[in-house]
Amino acid sequence: MTPVQRADSAPQGTLKSPYQDSDAAVVDSGSKVYLRYGCNGCHGGNGGGGICPPLTNDVWVYDGDDDTLFRLVAYGTQVLQDKGYSRKDMENVVGPMPPMGQVVQTDDDLWRILAFVRSNYHGAPECKFGCGGK
Ligand code: HEC
Repeated sequence: MTPVQRADSAPQGTLKSPYQDSDAAVVDSGSKVYLRYGCNGCHGGNGGGGICPPLTNDVWVYDGDDDTLFRLVAYGTQVLQDKGYSRKDMENVVGPMPPMGQVVQTDDDLWRILAFVRSNYHGAPECKFGCGGK
């Protein structure tokens, strides 16, 4: 299933990663697909930011839960906002995330990427999956 098909098929708020970021094999494969799909061009090789927001701090633009991050990457900013999401927090860079749901080939690839992203998280531990609208 493509990420967009997966996101379209599940009610908002219900997507949950099948992976843990403590699973080294998953994180390793996730880092490879992250690079293959060019996420690093904007977010840096380890997700620490660059010309785009860092993925590793405790600022989550929409929220930090699995469901929100999956939908943001799959749909991109425009479609996510059309579906009723709005920015809750601000990174140092504000701009639209392109829809990557047609680029990333499968939902499994996207969950692996998100496990890799979480493995590089450096923010406050209690905010790893979102701070509840901090
Ligand atoms: C063309 C540049 C670009 C590319 C390529 C890109 N992103 Fe993004 N990304 C952004 C921007 C800009 C934002 C902020 C979106 C917003 O504020 O609406 C963002 C936001 C995010 C966020 C949320 C960050 C937060 O702090 O809440 C995640 C997670 C993310 N991107 C993951 C990815 C992944 C995974 C890929 C590769 C499949 C990717 N991005 C490719 C530009 C990019």
